[in-house]
Order: sequence, then C-alpha cells, then structure tokens
Amino acid sequence: MAAIGTNIGRAISQLDKGDLVGIPTETVYGLAGNAYDESAVLKIFRVKDRPSFDPLIAHTDSIEKIKEFVKEVPDIAMDLARAFWPGPLTVLLPKKKKIPYLLTAGLKTVAVRIPDHPLTLELLRQLEYPLAAPSANPFGYVSPTTAQHVQDQLGAKIPYILDGGPCRVGIESTIIGFEDHKPVVYRLGGKKIEEIEKLVGTVRIRTNMSSDPTAPGMLKSHYSPKKRIVVGNLDQLIDKFTPGRVAVISFSKDYTAVPAERKFILSPSGDLEEAAANLFSALRKMDKADASFIVAEFVPDEGLGRAINDRLTRAQAK
Ligand code: TXA
Ligand code: MG
Repeated sequence: MAAIGTNIGRAISQLDKGDLVGIPTETVYGLAGNAYDESAVLKIFRVKDRPSFDPLIAHTDSIEKIKEFVKEVPDIAMDLARAFWPGPLTVLLPKKKKIPYLLTAGLKTVAVRIPDHPLTLELLRQLEYPLAAPSANPFGYVSPTTAQHVQDQLGAKIPYILDGGPCRVGIESTIIGFEDHKPVVYRLGGKKIEEIEKLVGTVRIRTNMSSDPTAPGMLKSHYSPKKRIVVGNLDQLIDKFTPGRVAVISFSKDYTAVPAERKFILSPSGDLEEAAANLFSALRKMDKADASFIVAEFVPDEGLGRAINDRLTRAQAK
C-alpha cells in the first residue's frame, strides 16, 4: 500500500525518480508524474488503465512556468488565467516540444491548470517540471476526493499519497479551449459557466456525448460506480423498485423510509456547492452499500448543478 502523509520533500524525491504520487487539488485528487518525462507519463496511463487516446492535464504554479512549455497564451486565455487561477479551470494551449505527444494523445494542444490547493501549490513551486495528473482513479470509475479514495484503488501501485484532506470543490475542472479564437467549453466542471461568461461573453458548450477524442473527458460512459445507477424522479423510482434494495442519492430531501446506510443526501439545505463537494463520496458510499442498485435525481441545472447533472448522466450511461 502507498504511504500517506504531508511530506512535500518525500513527494519531490519520488517524482524526481520518475515515480507517481497522489496529489490533492481543490477539485479531485490527481495521479501525478513528471510531465516532461515520457516514461513517467507512460506509467500514469498504465496505473490508471487509461486508453492512450485520452490526454492528460499539465499542472504548474505560475504563468511564467506555463510559458516554458506552451507556444502562446492568447489574450482571452490570459484574462481567464488572471481571473480564475489558481482554480478549477483547465485551458487548452498550443504545446511546445517539451511536452511529449504521449501526454496530449497526439494533439497539438496541451491542457493546463494551476490548481488551488496550498500543499500542491507548494509542491509545484519547488519543482522544475510541470506535473501530468489525471484524476487518481482507474479509468471510467468515479474520481477520488480523499487520500483514502486514492489508497483504496491505486494504493498498491504507487509509493506515496500527499494528504491534503477532502477536496473543497469535489468535481473536476471546467475545460475550455478555443476554436477560431472563440472560447469553447469541452467539459462542465468546478468553475461555473456563468462566471466564465461574465468575463469573456457567451461561450459555446461542446460537451456532446460522442466518442470524439478531441475531448475524451466527454466519453459518454464515465464516472461510473460498479452498481447500476438510474437517475430520475426519486419518488417514482423508489416506488418502482420496492421491495428491491436500492441505495438512494437525493439532492436535499430525506427519504425517511430508506435506512440511513442506504441513502446519501447531497445537501440538506439545497446548496449546489455542497452537493458538488459530496457527489463522488456519495457515489462511492452507495456503491459499497448493501443494495442491488443506486437511484439518484438531477439537481437544479444552474451553477455547479450543471456539472453535477453532467456527471450523473454519464454515470448512468452504460
Ligand atoms: O480537476 C481536474 O481537472 C483533475 C485534477 C487532478 O486536476 N484532473 C482531471 O484529469 O480531471 P482527467 O485526466 O481525469 O481529465 C482530463 C480531461 C481528459 O479526459 C480530456 O478530456 C481533457 O482533459 N483533455 C486533456 N487534454 C486535452 C486536449 N489537448 N484537448 C482536449 N481535451 C483535453
Ligand atoms: Mg478523470
């Protein structure tokens, strides 16, 4: 099993050797390796069992460092960076040679992000290379939001996990790129579209459910628990599946007839940010509950609710 701790020095010495380390971010935990080291990047794909057509995100701590590995930062990207970094936003930029094509799955752009977590920012500050880091889960499964989640699934395959506590945002970063110099969102995530649009005007949203590898985070089936999950009207679903044993994920309502160990209320007060922070833990807990499947409901489709609904939709697609 991996050692878990808060020792940045230990993380650095593993990373310098080409090993992988679990790292906390404000969104989800990442499985990190030296982005300039092709063999470390290859390890990431192997450990996650991730198909090679699905590109990774490069993480660093400053715009100066980003300029070492991207050809240019367009003005809109700079505005977004200044407003939202460090934070849950990933920007696609033209890569320089230093970034291996393995990392970008052959694409000419590299996904870049400055994450907002004190421990990881300090780690990145001390490194001379960016960290390639996908979410630290086996490909297709729910992303991890605690060090223990990483340990549970990848602990046997990596030496060290930096423990930064539970992730504050709890849902992956919003991914934005540019087509004809206009911003396009490829993945709904922790940075609200409303906030992005306030800064750069209307953005196109292209999170279609195809297998189009230009943004494979949009793969139709993703973020899935092992149990089957059905998303819809909970009153009807619970009724329909009674007396079967269902596990229930509700937004704010307590389904009192369902025993405590088989239900998870994302936010009793109906707060979308709290719901986002709890979503992946809820999916993991209910996946382990003594039930034959999971039923859940959509949340209001605004703010972080859009990203929550996106993840629920993909979780139920099989
Ligand atoms: O919040 C996050 O973004 C987390 C934390 C660890 O930073 N990372 C994360 O990585 O969610 P991952 O690998 O699970 O998802 C990254 C997604 C890929 O699936 C892909 O869709 C997209 O980023 N991506 C990466 N590079 C891309 C590129 N050049 N063009 C289009 N999409 C890209
Ligand atoms: Mg992922």
